[in-house]
Amino acid sequence: MPKNKLLDKKLAEARLGGGKDRIDAQHNKGKLTARERVHFLIDEGTFEEIGALVTHRSSDFGLDKQKILGDGVVTGYGNINGRLVYVYAQDFTVFGGSLAEAHAEKITRLMDLAMKNGAPVIGLNDSGGARIQEGVVSLGGYADIFYRNTLASGVIPQLSAIMGPCAGGAVYSPAITDFILMVENSSYMFVTGPNVVKTVTHEKVSAEELGGATAHATKSGVTDFATANELECINGIKKLLSYMPQNCEEESPSIEYQHGESESREALETIIPDNPNHPYDIRDIIGEVVDPDSFFEVKKDWAENIVIGFSRLAGKSIGIVANQPANMAGVLDINAARKAARFVRFCDCFNIPLLVFEDVPGFLPGTDQEWNAIISNGAKLLYAFCEATVPRVTVITRKAYGGAYDVMNSKHIGADMNFAWPGAEIAVMGAKGAAEIIFRKEIKAAKNPAKKLKEKEEEYKDKFATPYLAAARGYVDEVIKPKETRKKLISAFDMLKNKVDKLPRKKHGNIPL
Ligand code: HXC
Repeated sequence: MPKNKLLDKKLAEARLGGGKDRIDAQHNKGKLTARERVHFLIDEGTFEEIGALVTHRSSDFGLDKQKILGDGVVTGYGNINGRLVYVYAQDFTVFGGSLAEAHAEKITRLMDLAMKNGAPVIGLNDSGGARIQEGVVSLGGYADIFYRNTLASGVIPQLSAIMGPCAGGAVYSPAITDFILMVENSSYMFVTGPNVVKTVTHEKVSAEELGGATAHATKSGVTDFATANELECINGIKKLLSYMPQNCEEESPSIEYQHGESESREALETIIPDNPNHPYDIRDIIGEVVDPDSFFEVKKDWAENIVIGFSRLAGKSIGIVANQPANMAGVLDINAARKAARFVRFCDCFNIPLLVFEDVPGFLPGTDQEWNAIISNGAKLLYAFCEATVPRVTVITRKAYGGAYDVMNSKHIGADMNFAWPGAEIAVMGAKGAAEIIFRKEIKAAKNPAKKLKEKEEEYKDKFATPYLAAARGYVDEVIKPKETRKKLISAFDMLKNKVDKLPRKKHGNIPL
């Protein structure tokens, strides 16, 4: 056979993966094939495949008679919106996308290239797990990937899309990467599947209930996004990348922004209700402050008492962390602290400035929280902020009480600029609780204790539940009118754009994990 013809034949064979029937079976499940996913992900004409002709080297259990070119994973590089990325897509039509020696080597080679060249790695996961016929070699392959995921963490962004099964130890690669996106009703992640669960705990649960996208988006918080279908998932990856630099040495990206129009936002004056105990949706404030339609919320259905996400301010990428008064009054609890801490660390790894909106009544009390370690978990958020060296700005929109005042990017733990709105209440605790403690004897001795309590409450409120004591100390740099917020923030982040800050020399810190 002429040399080029043989090559064409082999490449055509590789493109067919596990064959037409299995491709049809994949489509019949409503799923795209690995190559179709890459096609939709990567800018047209830019994908270069690596290792299309790789095969496994095993002969156990009849594998020598089933050598499929590519060994169940499509690997290569290309552009997304003009920027280089490395991508691997597991091919479920080949041994169920199962991972073994050669398959793992293709992925680790790709990761090594990505690290040397400083560009993100995107994994499109769809796999039956460790290839059973190759035994421990498959397990070794996974560990080789986990090791590289860890070394790459904080150097290049790593994104994982789960587009089919992802079970057993295989879940730990996505878990180490920066963001996980799952597809509803066609993907699942669990350490042990429904059958093992039934045997061990006698619980009856479906794969979808146990580890589907909705379960991980609402109950465990493992996934950052639950998407309705594969195309939404792929578009989510593209959008997410648009806020990130290529690696930790680069600045976060900016898009063109035309100054000149008024940056005043009148609507901000009326979002907060007159009654300080009434809720409002912090997303309404975020939406007014940032560039139109630029807020991309992460983990939106888990730990809803805190809101996190990427956005743009005057065209520049920022990360937002905001208490959400519309959910549990915006109180900080274990999950909220974990959710925000990991996001703060991601932004800090990749030079994305942080904007914090604060309206927090404190930490959530109770045995459930204490016994499940709100102390250690709350400390994660505190630690993450303390350690972050990116530009950091806080706006206190209403309440900033107790330890939560310190934790939510206060001046004391390294925030660069702290603003407060005129209605801000910055104090050790709420007025009623404070009055009950410090005026206990006086209230008890009064003819009308309820009246006395009210009186003392007002006294405390007037003195402490304002932004002015904090401003007098310089803990708040400026008390600003709500409508000025966007203008002030654009100016503050512009002023901070060349910020250089370093942590003390160390091997690494010991975050309370
Ligand atoms: C080899 C596998 C495979 C595997 C699936 N296949 N999983 N081959 N090793 N792990 C093959 C099947 O034999 C079949 O081949 C094809 O892929 C499609 O599988 P089906 O079962 O027909 O598909 P479906 O009905 O959609 O079910 C998908 C599945 C199921 C739920 C993933 O295949 C399954 O349960 N597989 C085993 C999962 C598993 O136990 N893996 C090991 C987990 S332990 P043909 O030739 O018929 O098309 C693990 C540890 C990792 O992964 C530890 C890392 C530290």
